[in-house]
Amino acid sequence: MRLMIIGAPGAGKGTQAAILSKKLGIPHISTGDIFRINIKNETPLGQLAKQYIDNGALVPDEVTIGIVKGRLTEPDCGNGFILDGFPRTIPQAESLDSMLREMDQKLDKVLNIVVDDDVIIRRLTGRRVCPECNAIYHISTSEKAREGVCESCSAKLIQREDDREETVINRLKTYHIQTEPLISYYKGKGILSEVHGQCLVEDTTAEVNKELGLKE
Ligand code: AP5
Ligand code: MG
Repeated sequence: MRLMIIGAPGAGKGTQAAILSKKLGIPHISTGDIFRINIKNETPLGQLAKQYIDNGALVPDEVTIGIVKGRLTEPDCGNGFILDGFPRTIPQAESLDSMLREMDQKLDKVLNIVVDDDVIIRRLTGRRVCPECNAIYHISTSEKAREGVCESCSAKLIQREDDREETVINRLKTYHIQTEPLISYYKGKGILSEVHGQCLVEDTTAEVNKELGLKE
């Protein structure tokens, strides 16, 4: 299956993509995770991306498109993939269309996770992430997150630098201006489904499964 998950920052894209990736055995491709690995390893890409990410702005299209183009041609994407956080602009979506056309592939479904802005601001301050395996937690639902230890690999959990309230507000503004138009773009293609992201994680997962025709 070739899937895309869209939604505001903190809507739960990464959480649902990780669950689906495990269930379907296809890679979870998060451009945000790719940038964060590069920032951690202090690569030239990381140094460039950091300037934008820390301000809640988008990394330039030509940089992001090049990364995804390379990633989609890797062998593990042969049976499908889950895109999380890409595309984020109409030019990125158009580039993805041409990449997939060249590969003789098409997207099966775009899932839009819907969450109100005020919930997002409260939610992101409680997020903890694993810098080693990218697992995502919330202090309100995970004892391990409160202890600061990753359940999967025992690494010390961290708070993302862009989860500071002022950066979250900028990320939301960027989302509404640059990324929200993608909802109409994919509605127009007839492949968009909306799921509620304000309920329990399990309830969102159940809606996702239903939209994709998957068993629990
Ligand atoms: P990215 O890493 O993609 O960040 P984002 O889109 O802002 O989204 P998040 O990762 O913050 O949230 P999420 O929707 O994955 O939610 P999560 O599952 O973690 O991008 C970071 C930056 O990189 C961007 O700002 C930009 O600068 C740059 N970038 C990335 N892609 C780019 C592109 N294509 N073009 C240009 N620049 C790009 O969940 C959030 C929290 O909520 C967690 O604590 C989780 O446990 C909890 N949670 C999840 N679901 C629920 C639920 N149903 N109920 C309650 N809590 C929940
Ligand atoms: Mg994410």
